[in-house]
Amino acid sequence: MAVSTSTTISFARGAPSLDIIDVEGLKAAAARAFDSDPAGATAYGTSIGYPRLRAWIADKHGVEPERVLVTNGSMQADAFLFEHLVRPQDDVIVERPTYDRTLLSLRTRGASIHPVALQDDGIDTAALSRLLGGESGPAVKPKLAHLIPNFQNPAGYTLSETKRRELVSLAATHGFTIFEDDPYVDLRFSGQPLPTMLSLDPEHVIYASSFSKTVCPGIRVGYLVGPPQDIAAIAQLATNTYISPNMVAQAIVYEFCASGAVQRSIETVKAALAERAGALGAALRRELPEAQFIDPEGGYFMWVTLPEGTDVNALFAGAADRGVAFVKGTDFLLEGGQNTLRLAYSGVTVEQIDEGVRRLAGAYRAL
Ligand SMILES: Cc1ncc(COP(=O)(O)O)c(C=O)c1O
Repeated sequence: MAVSTSTTISFARGAPSLDIIDVEGLKAAAARAFDSDPAGATAYGTSIGYPRLRAWIADKHGVEPERVLVTNGSMQADAFLFEHLVRPQDDVIVERPTYDRTLLSLRTRGASIHPVALQDDGIDTAALSRLLGGESGPAVKPKLAHLIPNFQNPAGYTLSETKRRELVSLAATHGFTIFEDDPYVDLRFSGQPLPTMLSLDPEHVIYASSFSKTVCPGIRVGYLVGPPQDIAAIAQLATNTYISPNMVAQAIVYEFCASGAVQRSIETVKAALAERAGALGAALRRELPEAQFIDPEGGYFMWVTLPEGTDVNALFAGAADRGVAFVKGTDFLLEGGQNTLRLAYSGVTVEQIDEGVRRLAGAYRAL
């Protein structure tokens, strides 16, 4: 189907298009939730979340339920974790670039943020070791290292197994917690799955994931897995904040998962993402050969580097004039990145991708 010239094509939002959300499956799961457990689904419950979903998540990760806390989306989980662990001036390691909301949240808390370069196989562990060992200035003693291991937001890159092992070993040696922020893990459409850092070292890793990318974002269900003492402390924070998370949403997610609908949903989403990522790569090679990028193995995002000297602000304005939106790379960095951008392919059809990249290339040529 042709894309209307008056329609804005958005590569900006990291969200799925409606056609890959199983609305009928969700309606059926909602009916089952109210039929099978009306008391549990409609009560306040407690801050640890809907017990059946908590047990399902514990089973998925091979841990005891005491290690799991289910929240309203993983953003809520992140906020609780930062509130629990990060005080003003605490050293925190992040990837460079990283998720803009993480940067914002850590800045608001007054953390001392240490960005470490992201390579195409994940964070530069050699640079991190130098930072920890004091080889590149005063030794940094982090409380926390925030890492997005699979199909990173914004870069789309994946942390190699070797680096996962190195990181848990660095965390044990230097006594910091790894925050493994992993909402995209189930959306791998090529290559082999890798072990979570949580599975490599359950005592130094607090893991977060979400049903936003596998069920739908509007359901707002995410979770934390971590050492029981941290989970208990965060559960207390959660009680004080909201008594309990949304039990209706969690009961629906539980039914969706327990019936196997989630697995079918993941297959649908992965097939669409694979097609869209392929179309985006092909369109960029055809229309904008100056663009450098790595084809992702899963997830929502592609990180594009344009030739040095490209002004992403001017490109953004020119693209907006032509009806195409993206997020500037500078939004994911404390400094630099003026020639970079993030393209999300999760919410656009193949036709929109082709037309959107044509418009983007037009804006680039007009700079
Ligand atoms: C790395 C990362 N963490 C957390 C989130 C938030 O997810 P949720 O919808 O579960 O709050 C996102 C969403 O885009 C993300 O990319």
